[in-house]
Amino acid sequence: MHHWFACLALLATPVAAQDHAPAAPFVLAPLPYPAEALEPVIDAETMTLHHDKHHQAYVDALNKAVAADPSLAGRSLDQLVAQAGRELVAVRNNAGGHWNHGFFWKTMARPGAGGGPSPALARAIGAAFGSMDGMKAAFRAAGTGRFGSGWAWLIVRPDGRLAITTTPNQDNPLMDVAEVRGTPILANDLWEHAYYLQHRNRRAEYLDAWWRVVDWNMVSRRFAAAGR
Ligand SMILES: [Fe+2]
Repeated sequence: MHHWFACLALLATPVAAQDHAPAAPFVLAPLPYPAEALEPVIDAETMTLHHDKHHQAYVDALNKAVAADPSLAGRSLDQLVAQAGRELVAVRNNAGGHWNHGFFWKTMARPGAGGGPSPALARAIGAAFGSMDGMKAAFRAAGTGRFGSGWAWLIVRPDGRLAITTTPNQDNPLMDVAEVRGTPILANDLWEHAYYLQHRNRRAEYLDAWWRVVDWNMVSRRFAAAGR
């Protein structure tokens, strides 16, 4: 394995790309850390099931749905997400499921390993929410307010300001169907499969604990890239 080459490939990859395959068949990348890395916030069994079973199922179903529609041949995952409103629901749901989970894994790091927001991101959070605590409170309110399954997002709006939004099912803010559109820089999974084994039905408890495993270094890089 040529380590220097792998590093170069990572540097050359846009921060938003969630699958290195240019088109279907898409592939499930391994978790970027061991399954137990996020304990005690998220247990290893949850991570293993969530990645190996749930995320794999989205990838498999997406490849099947794309193979069934010749008009989608050659489309990248980002393109499939962007035009979700014009696709069959199986493509929309599973392209979103694949994109969202790839983004989610990379939003997290071992407790204490994620650093803090960059000065520019901290300023933007202050401008939009008053403070980091204000942002977390707004995120908690949005996440607990989303009925059923979905995602909570911190996004950069087209005007450059930060906003918090939620999406149902496996939709995301890059989709043409999103009520509030923007570039995601942070996401949390609100599906019960993300937290039920450890936190049971206590979504608010999970949302509060989750900040301990946010990779602010990654979120800050995404914020910088979104501003270009
Ligand atoms: Fe999930």
